[in-house]
Amino acid sequence: MSLLHEIEPLKQTALAELKAAPDLAALEQTKGAWIGPNGRFTALMKQLGTLSKEEKPAAGKLINAAKTELEAALAGRRSDLELKAALPREPTDFTLPGRRRALGKLHPLTQVTEDIVRSFRKIGFAVADGPEIEDEYHCFDALNTPADHPARDTQDTFYLASAGAEADARVMSHASRNSLLLRTHTSSVQIRVMKSQPPPIRIIVPGRVYRRDNADATHNPTFQQIEGLYVDKGVTVGDLKGTVEFVFRELMGSDVKIRFRPDYFSYTEPSFEIDFTNALVKKMGKDWLEIAGCGMVHPQVFENVGYDPEIWTGWAFGFGIERIAMLRYGINDIRLFYENDVRFLKQF
Ligand code: DAH
Repeated sequence: MSLLHEIEPLKQTALAELKAAPDLAALEQTKGAWIGPNGRFTALMKQLGTLSKEEKPAAGKLINAAKTELEAALAGRRSDLELKAALPREPTDFTLPGRRRALGKLHPLTQVTEDIVRSFRKIGFAVADGPEIEDEYHCFDALNTPADHPARDTQDTFYLASAGAEADARVMSHASRNSLLLRTHTSSVQIRVMKSQPPPIRIIVPGRVYRRDNADATHNPTFQQIEGLYVDKGVTVGDLKGTVEFVFRELMGSDVKIRFRPDYFSYTEPSFEIDFTNALVKKMGKDWLEIAGCGMVHPQVFENVGYDPEIWTGWAFGFGIERIAMLRYGINDIRLFYENDVRFLKQF
């Protein structure tokens, strides 16, 4: 068979194979077998040189036309196969519910804080706020905390660098300077609120506080507290105990028991440590857990804010929110609250 007659049948076979290629890889192989450097159609073109002068033009034209046709078929099949590869294998069910974006959640400490605030609101307490960068006056002096109290030591508290602070520290007594610091407790807000309004007062103060503690399972350099302050005429320790009991029962269940032990805080007199117990505490193998400090507002504190201690009485307390959250959720390491590991946070 002459070359001229071979072109058409070869082209037909090549076209059929290209169209039948089941996927892109097979298509590339078929392309190689026909129009690649060693392809059968390429070999045909190489034979053109062996033809006579008369045969060459017609054969050349035919081969070129066939090659164009093969290349078009190749491109057509390639785009078909590419489209097919991009389509989903399963048919789309447009009646399925959409994929919802996962909603974020409140941090467990925020949740506990909100619960505590809700309980106090029921008995008429309002939320008050104060700055985290405090001065020594509001954090210590006005709270009747003497200059030599360990809480005021530079080893226990984060003081802010300020011009001349070092010189101050060398030549002045604690009482006569007023350095800035990161508040060590929310008690400073007691002073700010009492100075800004007349009694009676019924506030709680949730907020962040700072201590120069190394982080371990039960300490963190920053943590959260809730302060409470109640000032009115004829306020007694009974009011304090009843309020604390009410709130802890709301928070931790009706089996909660509260115990007051004598303690010392310079801004309350008398002062108490509040111990707490319930089934959970027993499960931890303990009889009682220390949970808060409290007491009757010291007359000197009333003097400092301009309230007459002969007329006004009150109580105050302060406790750590992490402690409550750890008890409530059975968490054994305070650092987990501050690592922002979503696997931990998602559980609450
Ligand atoms: N400020 C204390 C602390 O950080 C807690 C405290 C104790 C607050 C007695 C009070 C109080 O209001 O009366 O440990």
